[in-house]
Formats: sequence, C-alpha cells, structure tokens
Amino acid sequence: MAKLIDGKQIASDIRSELREQIVKWIQQGHRAPQLTAILIGDDPASNTYVANKMKAATDVGIVSKTERYSSDITEEQLLRRIEELNLDDAVDGILVQLPVPDHINERKVCNSVSCGKDVDGFNERNIGRLCLDMNTLIPCTPLGVQELIKRCQIETFGKNVVVVGRSKNVGMPIAMLLHADGRNDTCAMDATVTICHRFTPPSELARFCKSADIVITATGVPGLITADMIKEGAAVIDVGITRVVDPVTGKNKLVGDVDYDEARKVAGHITPVPGGVGPMTVAMLMKNTFIAAKNLAKK
Ligand code: GUN
Repeated sequence: MAKLIDGKQIASDIRSELREQIVKWIQQGHRAPQLTAILIGDDPASNTYVANKMKAATDVGIVSKTERYSSDITEEQLLRRIEELNLDDAVDGILVQLPVPDHINERKVCNSVSCGKDVDGFNERNIGRLCLDMNTLIPCTPLGVQELIKRCQIETFGKNVVVVGRSKNVGMPIAMLLHADGRNDTCAMDATVTICHRFTPPSELARFCKSADIVITATGVPGLITADMIKEGAAVIDVGITRVVDPVTGKNKLVGDVDYDEARKVAGHITPVPGGVGPMTVAMLMKNTFIAAKNLAKK
C-alpha cells in the first residue's frame, strides 16, 4: 500500500513555520506582510478560493485585503487599480483571481502586476526567469508540488518523471522545476521529464506513465490515470480537482485525475484529492507573499 502524502498536514506545518518567521520579522521592526486580492464578478468557486486564501493569510500573520469589483469593470479601470497597488508601499503581494471576464485580456492583467509583487508568479517576466532557472516568484501550485516531493524525500535526481497536462500555470512550470538544474537558483530537481497532453495517444500515455518514477497529473479528467499505468513503487501526485456527483450518495464531491483506490495498491507514495496538492497551493501563496515582503523591504 502506498504511503499517503498528507498535503493538509504538510501545508499546516508550513503555515506554522511561516507564522513563527513572520512573528520574528515583526519583532525585528518590520510591519506585517500585506496581500491584496482582486476578485471580479460573483463566481462561487472564485469566491471560495479567495476566502480560503485570505483566511490562511490571517492565520499566518499576513494582513489581507480583498477588493471586489463587478464583472462590468473595464480593462482600463482594472489596470489602473493594479498600477496604484504596484506603487503602494504598504502592499507586498497582489493577486488577481482568475478567470477574469471575457472582455478583459488575462495576459495583460497578469503582466501588469509588478514582478516583485506577483505572488502568483504569472507575470511573463517571472515565468521567463523560471524557465531560465533564475530566482523569481514561482506559481503556487507547482511550488506546492515541489515542496511535497521534497518533504516526502522522494528522489528526483536522474529519475523519470511524467507530467500529464501542459497548462501554462500548472503543467508547464511543474515540468520546468522538475527537469531544471538543481545547482541554479530555483532549487530545481534534475529529473528526466516527459510532458504528455491531450494529443498524446492513450497507449503512449500509458507507456510513458508506466516507465515513470513519479507521475504528476494536472488535467481535470477524472479517472484518466489508472492503476495499470503506474509502476510499482512510483510516486503519484494528483493536481486534478473536479467536482462530480457521487453515484452512491447523490452529493457533490471532489475527485482527482487518478483512480485513487486502485492506484494506491501499486504506488509507493500517493496524494489524495482533496487534501493533497490543494492545501499546498494556499500555503505556497503565503510563502510567496512573505518572500515578496522581504524583497521589497530590502529596496
Ligand atoms: N484561479 C484558479 N487558480 C488560481 C490561482 O492559482 N491564482 C489565481 N490568481 N487565480 C486562480
């Protein structure tokens, strides 16, 4: 039976560590780190995600503010507000919850957040720095996956990793962290990485996964990764989160991409959904906000 990777517990440990570090930071005479979230429209999922982030911020001693705007805010108004926050010395981290309404250019918005306050790591200059193994703010979910691997002492050096999913915010940066040179700034992991995606034929996906020491999947396709695709003893990290109706209870529940009940009989380590990568994303946002605060204080 696989060892459970308890993301909830590991995220809680990280939050405790951060809480202590932030107390010390304030004792040294600094103000508390500050995170501002921008939430546009009334999407219930976005509302919940932002509420969870703000709760986590308060829990670790980060001052958090949520600015809510109706979905008819213009791109120009939004960009102007982000620029004000960029210039505000009291603000360390800025987060624009995605998705934004269709009439707003998401890339423009991500690029408008100044690199030093870009706690999501979505500004294209920060993404470029990540691709060059340079010190930068790294997107929270990929950073959370990296931290789970490190804290569970799963060997990556020279190992075969398959990343399933090539999204720019998750799959791609995960592949970057896993394959990159650990001697450089991003503390990367020196693995041999294969990226599979929607046009990888199913038989090839199965073949690549079966040869992998670590499978990381981020597709949002429930049941895509079955037990027969996992090598005995491999680590399985499931980033997928899909809301489905439980056929037995009729209630909503969250599931990942992996057939968890069967895959855990073969894998060496496995993340549950929920309680695996999800809580790590929030913990890493807190970590990024504190990094941003420390960097801005140096300036
Ligand atoms: N929407 C879904 N995930 C994320 C995230 O990690 N950051 C932001 N800003 N929006 C999201």
